[in-house]
Amino acid sequence: MTQYGYTLLGLTAVVAMLVAVLTFAVLKFVAGAREARRHLQGGGVDTTLLSVALQDAMTRLQAQERAMNARAVASEQLSGQIVQRITAGLLVADGTGRVEILNPAGRHLLDVASDPVGADYRDLLEAAPPLRDAVTECLRTGRPIVRRSLEIRGSGRSSHFGVTVSPLGGGVVGPDGRGAICLFSDLTNVFELEEQLRLKDTLARLGELTAGIAHEFRNGLATIHGYSRLMAPEALPAQYQPYVEGIRQETEALGRVVTNFLNFARPETVSLARVALGPLARRAEDDLRVELPVGTTIETVGEFGEIEGDEVLLRQLFGNLVRNAVEACETAGIQPAIAIEGHIDRMRGICRVSVADNGPGIPESDRARVFQPFFTTRSRGTGLGLAIVQKIVVTHNGRVVVGRSSAGGASIDLTFPLNQPRARP
Ligand SMILES: Nc1ncnc2c1ncn2[C@@H]1O[C@H](COP(=O)(O)OP(=O)(O)OP(=O)(O)O)[C@@H](O)[C@H]1O
Ligand SMILES: [Mg+2]
Repeated sequence: MTQYGYTLLGLTAVVAMLVAVLTFAVLKFVAGAREARRHLQGGGVDTTLLSVALQDAMTRLQAQERAMNARAVASEQLSGQIVQRITAGLLVADGTGRVEILNPAGRHLLDVASDPVGADYRDLLEAAPPLRDAVTECLRTGRPIVRRSLEIRGSGRSSHFGVTVSPLGGGVVGPDGRGAICLFSDLTNVFELEEQLRLKDTLARLGELTAGIAHEFRNGLATIHGYSRLMAPEALPAQYQPYVEGIRQETEALGRVVTNFLNFARPETVSLARVALGPLARRAEDDLRVELPVGTTIETVGEFGEIEGDEVLLRQLFGNLVRNAVEACETAGIQPAIAIEGHIDRMRGICRVSVADNGPGIPESDRARVFQPFFTTRSRGTGLGLAIVQKIVVTHNGRVVVGRSSAGGASIDLTFPLNQPRARP
């Protein structure tokens, strides 16, 4: 081999080595690029997964928020409905005295026509001072008042309220975050029922105690009267004749009193049936026509209901009241004008009847005593008329009070429970 040949072989070897090195480098680069692409592809999956997870979390959070909003709306609706529907009165006032809430039952109980939100509770409760004072006390002391019984005196009648006032704190109402929540309900029915039971009990005891004595007394009187009738006045000296007459008259009068009292004191036997009070009140005039003075007027107005009652006793009741009114007017020299007025309170299930006259009226100091047996201001009265009226009213689970009529005379105000429609079986 020539030198030129050796040189060519050397060069070829060098070129071959260079090609080999170059090929290796290219292969290495391609492998590196593939690896890098694979890495890049793997990173994209992670990002996608991350974004899907984020999206999912967002959707769940939004669903939770929607559910919470729905629950808040439902709970607001529920509390709104509770405030609107509860039968007890609800009054919420803030620390400055501003009314925040007075629910419909509260408006009805307090006889408030429009929504008083924003008004001062002291003005709102001006006609109910004990209730106003209870709220003031709670706001001032920050202490609750639990189930306090309050008497609210109205123009015509008194109501009895059961009241609970609780302090509000924790930034719930008003600028200073304080206030009072007052729940009140009308317990007049319960109170009157208790009073009726007490009265029934008293009348029953009175009957038991006195009926025996009155019986004996009447027997004794009958004997004295019998002897006095056996004495012939004409057979006596003239000076003694008026005494015999006097004994007869007195024993007769006393006998009547004792009989009346026994009628009043003995336990009442009632035969109850549905009675329409209106026609019954209108009959009072017919029943008494013969004994009423000429010119007497009896006007029956308003709405009367049906009650469970004893017609005979109720007629006696109207008779006694009309008689009293006429007698009072006559004594005062006034022509009697009597008004029997009915009013139905469906909410309370009662009927109110007042028998009012234009006589001199009953003085405030006598009003509590006129129902006591034997209280009378009339020379020939026995003082049992109104006691019998009260007994009849109580027997009918009703109530009777004395007031003043618009004509300045007496008004005897009766309340009877209405006959509720019977439930169908
Ligand atoms: N309408 C009235 N106006 C004024 N005073 C009245 C009226 N009704 C009752 N009174 C007063 O109440 C008292 C008691 O009345 P009550 O009917 O019980 O007895 P009385 O009428 O005196 O006697 P009687 O037993 O005959 O009825 C009366 O004496 C009278 O003073
Ligand atoms: Mg009388």
